Amino acid sequence: MLVQSKALPSEKMIDVSDEISFAIQEMAGSFGFSEELEQITKAGIDLALKAIQSSPPLKKLLKNLNLESGNYLAIHSSRLPYLANHLTKMMGWDSESTAYKMAFAALIHDSTLDFNVHASYEHGSKKVEDLNCMLTASEIENFVQHTKKAAEIAAQFRGVPPDVDMIIAQHHETCGGTGFPYKLNHTRIAPLSCVFIIAHELLIYYESHSENFKIEDFIALKQDEYFAGYFKKILVELALFKIE
Ligand SMILES: [Fe+2]
Ligand SMILES: [Fe+2]
Repeated sequence: MLVQSKALPSEKMIDVSDEISFAIQEMAGSFGFSEELEQITKAGIDLALKAIQSSPPLKKLLKNLNLESGNYLAIHSSRLPYLANHLTKMMGWDSESTAYKMAFAALIHDSTLDFNVHASYEHGSKKVEDLNCMLTASEIENFVQHTKKAAEIAAQFRGVPPDVDMIIAQHHETCGGTGFPYKLNHTRIAPLSCVFIIAHELLIYYESHSENFKIEDFIALKQDEYFAGYFKKILVELALFKIE
């Protein structure tokens, strides 16, 4: 007898994505790479790719992100594939393999962080040095190393696409070379990493401005910071892009 499979409603997909994202944080943070982590991450990527297929235009997408409930890092990581995918489409760089890389990188990128450290950085200060008064030395060390550690975990997955660990490793680098841990500037950051970094910053901006969010404000805020290379190109596209 043929068993008909039912499609999961989109709001359920989001709930399940959050659960998977939370499990990834717990497993990677406590144990590093494991086969179980690999399996659950692949399930999370599949779900994110399905949800992305029915993803609405940016304005509605942001409205639907529903960032309030649950664990901050889990939600942050499970919503990031939507924005990253939106920006790759906007640049005309979208493909199945790019969507896969973005979803994979998003789910793992902060998996070795603990909640408080990340939140303090994302919502408090831009420079690692400014964290001295907010965090202990070991918390700062954990924070500075989290991109490297997460990239090392991703590199151990079987069949991981080549750019994923690089995107993860570069996700706190900046256009001007003031980021960490490598202090790369726009001449050395890969194009897909630039998309991921801007999607990540757009999400963080939206997390704290969702009430009165305007894309123009984000663009104005980033204009001086994204002054060259792909950073500038992506911001110019974002400004030209009709937000619906
Ligand atoms: Fe993050
Ligand atoms: Fe991070």
